Amino acid sequence: MVTSSTPLVERLDWDSQFFGREIGRARVGRLDATTADRLAYDARAAGLACVYFAAGIDDFETVLAAERLGCHLVDVRVVLERPELTTIPSGASDTDFRIEPARDGDLPQLERIATEVARLSRYAADPRFRGEETERLYRTWIQNAWNGYVDKVLVARDAGGDVLGFACPKMHGELCDLQLLGVAGAQRQRKLGRALVLAAMTWGREQGATRMQAVTQARNLPAQRLFQQLGFLTAEVKLYYHLWLTPDR
Ligand SMILES: CC(C)(COP(=O)(O)OP(=O)(O)OC[C@H]1O[C@@H](n2cnc3c(N)ncnc32)[C@H](O)[C@@H]1OP(=O)(O)O)[C@@H](O)C(=O)NCCC(=O)NCCS
Repeated sequence: MVTSSTPLVERLDWDSQFFGREIGRARVGRLDATTADRLAYDARAAGLACVYFAAGIDDFETVLAAERLGCHLVDVRVVLERPELTTIPSGASDTDFRIEPARDGDLPQLERIATEVARLSRYAADPRFRGEETERLYRTWIQNAWNGYVDKVLVARDAGGDVLGFACPKMHGELCDLQLLGVAGAQRQRKLGRALVLAAMTWGREQGATRMQAVTQARNLPAQRLFQQLGFLTAEVKLYYHLWLTPDR
C-alpha cells in the first residue's frame, strides 16, 4: 500500500543493471498535478534516470498530469484473453513445418528471431534506448526462457531442421500466459503464428489451464488479428510512459 510517506517510485534492480542506468517504476497508476510533482521529486531523490509509468486508458486526469510532467508515451499495451480452452480449433495438417518442443542447439536461431521481434517493443519506441540495447534485451529474454523462466519453449521447424518461430507459455495457476511469440521476418504470413498459438493453447490445456493470456501492443495489428481470430478478447488496455529525469546526452 502506498502511504503519504512511501516514495511514489521504486528502483528496478534487474532493469538498472541490464541497461547500466538507474531505472525505476511508479508505484501508483493515477496522477494529478500534486502527485505528479511528488513522483518526479521522489524519482530524483532516488537518483533515477528513467521511470516506467502505466496509466488507465480512460483516466484523462492522469494522462494530462503525465503529459505535463514530460512523460513520453512509448506503448499502448493490450492484454488479450482467451476466456476458455475447452474449444481449440484444429490446426492445418498439410503444412511444410511442424510444431514441437525446442531442442538442444536451437538457441542461436531463437536469439536471431527474438532480435527481430525486439523492433516492436516499447524500448524501440523510446529513442533514449539504443537499438542494440533493445535487441540484447530480447535475446536475454529468450535465453532466460530457454533456461527455465517459462514452462515450455515450442518451436516451428521446417523439414531441414531450421527454427522458423517460437511460442513460450508459462503457467500461473489456471491461467496460461503466452510470454513470447515470434516468427522470423521472412517466414511471416504462412500460418506459423497461428500454429504456434494453437500449440501453446493445447499445451496450456494439458497443464490444467482454463484460460490463456497474451500481451501485445495496440500498434501490432498482425498480432491482434491473429489472437482475435483464435477467440481472444481484449481484457485490458494501458498507456505506457517513460519519464526521463536526466538530460539526453
Ligand atoms: C504476429 C506474428 C506472430 C504473426 O505470425 P504469422 O506467422 O505471420 O501469422 P499467420 O500467418 O499465422 O497469420 C494468422 C493471422 O494473423 C493475422 N496476421 C498475420 N500477419 C498479418 C499482417 N501482416 N497484417 C494483418 N494481419 C496479419 C491475420 O489475421 C492472419 O490470418 P489470415 O492469414 O487468415 O488473414 C508475426 O507477425 C510476428 O512474429 N510478429 C512479431 C512478433 C510479435 O508481434 N509477437 C506477438 C506479440 S504478442
